[in-house]
Amino acid sequence: MCGIIARIGHGDATETLLSGLENLEYRGYDSAGIAVQNGSGVKVHKTSGEVADLKATLDTRPSGNIGIGHTRWSTHGPPTDENAHPHTDTAGDVAVVHNGVIDNYDELRAQLQSQGHEFHSDTDTEVIPHLIDEYRQDSASTEQAIRKAIDTLEGSYAIAALVDGEERVYAARKGSPLVLGLDDDEWFLASDVPAFLDYTDQVIYLEDGDLVVLEPDSYRITDLGGTPVERPVDTVDWDPDDAGKGEYDHYMEKEIHSQPTALANTIEGRIENGTVSFDDLEPGKFADIDTVQFVACGTSYHAAMYAGQQLRTAGLQTAVIRASEYETSAGPIDESTLVIAVTQSGETADTLDAVRTAASHDAQTLAVTNVVGSTAAREADTAIYIRAGPEVGVAATKTYSSQAVTLTLLTQRLAADVPEATPVDDSEELLETLEDFPQHVETVLETSQARLLAREFMNSTSYFFIGNGLSHSVALEGALKFKEITYEHAEGFASGELKHGPLALVTEKSPLFAVSTGDADEKTKTNAIEAQSRGAPIVAVGPATSPLVDVADAHLSVPDTHPVWAGLLANVQLQLVSYHAATLLERSIDKPRNLAKSVTVE
Ligand code: M6R
Repeated sequence: MCGIIARIGHGDATETLLSGLENLEYRGYDSAGIAVQNGSGVKVHKTSGEVADLKATLDTRPSGNIGIGHTRWSTHGPPTDENAHPHTDTAGDVAVVHNGVIDNYDELRAQLQSQGHEFHSDTDTEVIPHLIDEYRQDSASTEQAIRKAIDTLEGSYAIAALVDGEERVYAARKGSPLVLGLDDDEWFLASDVPAFLDYTDQVIYLEDGDLVVLEPDSYRITDLGGTPVERPVDTVDWDPDDAGKGEYDHYMEKEIHSQPTALANTIEGRIENGTVSFDDLEPGKFADIDTVQFVACGTSYHAAMYAGQQLRTAGLQTAVIRASEYETSAGPIDESTLVIAVTQSGETADTLDAVRTAASHDAQTLAVTNVVGSTAAREADTAIYIRAGPEVGVAATKTYSSQAVTLTLLTQRLAADVPEATPVDDSEELLETLEDFPQHVETVLETSQARLLAREFMNSTSYFFIGNGLSHSVALEGALKFKEITYEHAEGFASGELKHGPLALVTEKSPLFAVSTGDADEKTKTNAIEAQSRGAPIVAVGPATSPLVDVADAHLSVPDTHPVWAGLLANVQLQLVSYHAATLLERSIDKPRNLAKSVTVE
């Protein structure tokens, strides 16, 4: 977690750093800070709280053409002013921002303290500027001192450093993302592209072991031994408008409403003559696969469950495994196992670990991600992109829809490749009806009664979500979204599980959202009635033709379509319920407490 940014050029850096940090706040918002180098020393400004709080502390904007910045998700030490980055050495000559975790910081700190270095925070990061300072004393150059410092660190890092009197930014990465942005007369470094997308779409995705030295008119990338390395320049195809809130109050609201466009991008060019094609997946690529394992966390896990259900129906041996449990629960893995890592950010530590474990057993690995150049995309054997555009709200919305659609298409490809699979009977209808799916999402957004229902149930004690078959994972996703942004108790269950325990919690103060796809809804109907007879108000979420609608107290309707798409439309209704409930409760919609979008720690 944490977002870092650096900027060097000829004009002033401060505004660029502050706006860049705002676009990185999805990575953490416990504290924020900048350091600016302006020819009269390194000036550090930092505070606990959000970037808006940092701005409020700056009576006048510090000026300087070189700067670094940080927005924090706390790991070592609480979110205080002292623990905010940048951190400096004792004299305040070296300032560092860091994303990652330094595992050997305890011993380094003790050693540096014994050498006279004064520490002021609880963070692991603070050892880095002190180490650089220590090594500068007997190194030929700061660059050499930074190499030595990096060599001493164990753990993960993306760092950027400023040194008093030097018109340079130094940066390095290992295990945490870092992207270089190249504009005509300024360079940027950041944890993610939206930090500088307003200025440039020309980027270099840095690799582990890269050390970068930026000067106002040049940049150099070397390996840790000092040998120059060439990295390709890529063009990012995200629109800068995608990174702002536009006419909406919240990123989440904007992202929910941009789903028709995002989904049209996801689908574009992937269905040709009634068959699915992905650029990097030539036909027959998966012919020797006998088992598919999905690995993912949170919302991505629910999208993987959605696809897993379809793949099982196609007769493929399929497991959907929480990435954090992969090491202990994966079972046999070999070269005929395809491990599909589903991760919006491509940086989730648990998911990356699972990919590495799978690769160490010779499994084939495939990343399904939103972020070009992300670690998952680079480390997996193959990557396919969900093409949802940048998502800033911590609660995943449009990326879930785009993941579920991409994975559904991938399922069709796998079923066509693997000889043991039986292509789904209604494959043709599935692909035909996908064409109308973005428009159906638009209809849900225009007609939804979710706000009225959210208001009606505002004083409830618990919120339950149930579904069976395909809609089971939609129910789990509905509950995750609800608890994540409302801070209210919400749980999702397979419909039939309700009577095996959770029913004890059901009262007239616990509304139950019953998800339907228009197919196999009878079980959910029976289980909903069981809850209803204990007083729970029932909301049917699905097509008007579902038998659930006959018994429900309220209905959130979705257009009639193929059950696979109907389940995802029901999810859009549930996104809106969560969003409206959270706004009525005046919660922090885009930055829910204790969370960060990109979870780069285990
Ligand atoms: O970037 P990823 O898709 O790997 O993230 C996985 C989860 O951290 C993420 O989906 C999380 O559950 C969402 N913020 C929930 O809305």
